[in-house]
Amino acid sequence: MSNAKNNDLLLGNIDNNEQYPIDFNELEKAAKETLEAGPFGYIRSSAGGEETYRKNINSFSKYSIVPRFLNDVSTLNTEVTILGKTYPHPLFIAPVGVNKIAHEDGEIAVAKAAAKFEFPYIQSTVSSFSIEEIASATPGSSKWFQLYWSSNKEIAFSMAKRAEAAGYEAIVLTVDTVMLGWREEDIRNQFSPLKRGFGQGNYASDPVFMAALPEHSQEAIVDSILENIYHPTLNWNDISELRNYVSLPILIKGILHPEDAKLAVKQGIDGIIVSNHGGRQLDGVIASIDALPGIVKAIDGRIPVLFDSGIRRGSDAVKALALGASAVCIGRPFVWGLAAGGQIGVERVLENFLQETKVSISLAGVRNMKELQRMTVTKE
Ligand code: FNR
Ligand code: LAC
Repeated sequence: MSNAKNNDLLLGNIDNNEQYPIDFNELEKAAKETLEAGPFGYIRSSAGGEETYRKNINSFSKYSIVPRFLNDVSTLNTEVTILGKTYPHPLFIAPVGVNKIAHEDGEIAVAKAAAKFEFPYIQSTVSSFSIEEIASATPGSSKWFQLYWSSNKEIAFSMAKRAEAAGYEAIVLTVDTVMLGWREEDIRNQFSPLKRGFGQGNYASDPVFMAALPEHSQEAIVDSILENIYHPTLNWNDISELRNYVSLPILIKGILHPEDAKLAVKQGIDGIIVSNHGGRQLDGVIASIDALPGIVKAIDGRIPVLFDSGIRRGSDAVKALALGASAVCIGRPFVWGLAAGGQIGVERVLENFLQETKVSISLAGVRNMKELQRMTVTKE
């Protein structure tokens, strides 16, 4: 595989994307201009005093890449094999719900952009579109399904089965959101997407969910989603039970403690995503990048360890991969691209990510993902 594309910068073949800023902060500013305060605040903000959000971002600069040279980096192979499937590069789309608050085209636009640049797409339970709608809009592309447990667990089983039937490749059970975090910006703006009827795609199309409704009204759907998304009883036994309904690999998202990582292996979980939900759940928790090395050590190669929270550019992705992540998931950057320009806006973000990641890997003197995991990274 050639990395001739990396020369595009030198050859002047990179558009300056005038319409869509390249830098995350500028992109956020562009999105702010297109969105009302409620939706913008919901996407931007995090829990509590947003200490963890700041830590997520700032912690990356504590880690430094120590590059090697004279290593013939004329070829680059960014392929990664995760759970038996080979993906062209280690960049995934993080599950982000209620995309219609950012842009009318919502998750369809994101999934199409992801398919174009071959980023596996992790669809949220609280999507504006259903599993089946996303599957038919993007045939043949890699998709995983992020599952929020339901207080009526038959609904969770039903959604997982639908994802398997629609050709999704894995289930990602998010375990850090048994209830929503304390989000002051949303209280200030009195903005709850679910209460306003966003994020119903997978519920309104679910036979088990619909059959359990007391009546078929919009109000009943909203109330029932709110009841089901609150599931504080979630525990390891539930995951064993989920296994009876799907044969897909099951990953858990939201792991921050090495002991939970070890338990995941013991419980037969197929993979984990180290994440603090972009600081949106419990404020004050450890930066995701600081949790990663201890968890990689605890897992010791037994299952894949994916990563998210705070990835803003290709060089962040490279640091997380060098610290042992099998792949990284991009969150808010693509949401701002969506708000600023729909599918094209997302495409610009993904293209820039991919190019910066590739250039960064080559400039570090690395030729493939195995070498990247052995690359030297120091911590201040
Ligand atoms: C999220 N995230 C999320 N996670 C999840 O498992 N299911 C979901 O439905 C959502 N929804 C969601 C909505 C919005 C608006 C945001 C910003 C995030 C969390 C997401 O998967 C990921 O963990 C974070 O976005 C990572 O943090 P950064 O890099 O975006 O800051
Ligand atoms: C959020 C939920 C939906 O972070 O995961 O907004």
